[in-house]
Amino acid sequence: MITMEKLYEGKAKILYQTDDPDILLTYYKDDATAFNAQKRGQIVGKGEINCTVSTALFQWLESLGIPTHYIDRPSSREMRVKAIKIIPLEVVVRNIAAGSLCKQTGLKEGKILPFPLVEFYLKDDALGDPLLTPDRIKVIDIASEEQVNQLRDLALQINQYLQEFFDKCQIILVDFKLEFGVDKTGKIYLGDEISPDTCRLWDKTQEDAQARILDKDRFRRDLGDVETAYQQVQARVLQQIESL
Ligand code: C5P
Repeated sequence: MITMEKLYEGKAKILYQTDDPDILLTYYKDDATAFNAQKRGQIVGKGEINCTVSTALFQWLESLGIPTHYIDRPSSREMRVKAIKIIPLEVVVRNIAAGSLCKQTGLKEGKILPFPLVEFYLKDDALGDPLLTPDRIKVIDIASEEQVNQLRDLALQINQYLQEFFDKCQIILVDFKLEFGVDKTGKIYLGDEISPDTCRLWDKTQEDAQARILDKDRFRRDLGDVETAYQQVQARVLQQIESL
């Protein structure tokens, strides 16, 4: 048996070094955390679903010209990815007010925003992933101004693609988080995952404000039927991919 070196174990995934220095292996777990790991649990089958959904969306985005870290999917919970250096920024795009935006600004949940809002958070659990300002990004010097502009443009382009995609799945893309990384030449790639863990997804066919939630908010807010919601997203995404 070949044992791979574990590089990092995160809240939802484990990262391994493969025997090729340019390729890493990501293992998707069922573990779920919320509120900076203060709430912990398991969503049965989540690892497989998130790996499947992310694979489908990465392949599709790649076909549209968005560079992603995705290489292939050797098993249902494993993804081989390019060994990029992650930029420690969480890039959040919001189309509709929800979550921390409502908490911090008083905007009503469900309000359609006048334009897609792009936000940058520092990826640092110990500091609680604080919201950054452009000047704070400059002061802490984790990305150049040019890189930040590139990340914003990529995030907005991805938002446009994903919004249209999910719309065809009868799902509203409320908001989502992206992470990016760079290769040795400085080229930027979309990294991490795109899944019901990292997006807010509302079922367009449901009126009820709680029944329509198809994402990790069901876990965060103890709404029940978490697994069913994740399965719904997977089924609709795969159906849409097959119809392309
Ligand atoms: O909590 P907040 O409203 O800021 O989250 C915005 C979006 O980013 C949500 O879709 C959430 O799932 C995602 N997010 C994430 N990982 C984080 C923080 C937020 O996937 N660490």
